[in-house]
Amino acid sequence: MEEKEISQAVISRLPRYYRYLRDLKDAGKERISSQELSRIMKVTASQIRQDFNNFGGFGQQGYGYNTKYLYEEIGKILGLDQQYNMVLVGAGNLGQAIVKYLISRQSGFHFTCAFDIDPHLYDQTIAGIPIRPVEDLKSYIDENDVDIVVLTIPKSEARRSAQMLADTKVKAIWNFAHVDLELPPHIQVENVHLQDSLMKLSYNISKSGNS
Ligand code: NAI
Repeated sequence: MEEKEISQAVISRLPRYYRYLRDLKDAGKERISSQELSRIMKVTASQIRQDFNNFGGFGQQGYGYNTKYLYEEIGKILGLDQQYNMVLVGAGNLGQAIVKYLISRQSGFHFTCAFDIDPHLYDQTIAGIPIRPVEDLKSYIDENDVDIVVLTIPKSEARRSAQMLADTKVKAIWNFAHVDLELPPHIQVENVHLQDSLMKLSYNISKSGNS
């Protein structure tokens, strides 16, 4: 059967469904209707049904969805049933915080090594993960399975590093440098800008007349 192309808009809503369903499942909720999920998530029930129909619907209308099943299926669609080997490039404040956070979550995102240009860091570890010279990065990737590189280096360095990574077998870059990276399609890129969300917040403050 030919696989249906799912829009990025639908995909970007899946993590939120996943989070809510995890909480509902953990709270012991066994079934949930699209109306109830709609009330909790403040999304229309028809949006929820439309989104889920992209993946075959997941459950009986009227009777509601099985929360645990839906949570697990959305997890599989998001690829969260797999393990990913990750390395960090840029072991500064942000990079260290990301590594520590993901390690504490004990998720399928598994850090194996960090790289930096600063020699002062080479005798240090981040939550047990060694920090090595960035010159070793390419050979490390050649010799080890690395799925995702987390890029937390200055903007001025990011494009060059990303170009180098595009010539390796790395599958994806999770980019935090303040530049939107555009790379060949064989390497996935997710550009993250926390400030976009903060600017949205500041817009809403000024619009509400509270500023
Ligand atoms: P930081 O200065 O604490 O850490 C940066 C690290 O990158 C340093 O350890 C430095 O030695 C290393 N580095 C520099 N060039 C390198 C290279 N070519 N290869 C490997 N390592 C290299 O800075 P911080 O606060 O951790 O921020 C890192 C980057 O992330 C900055 O560009 C910052 O603007 C950006 N940032 C982005 C956010 C976002 O939402 N996207 C949020 C916060 C920071």
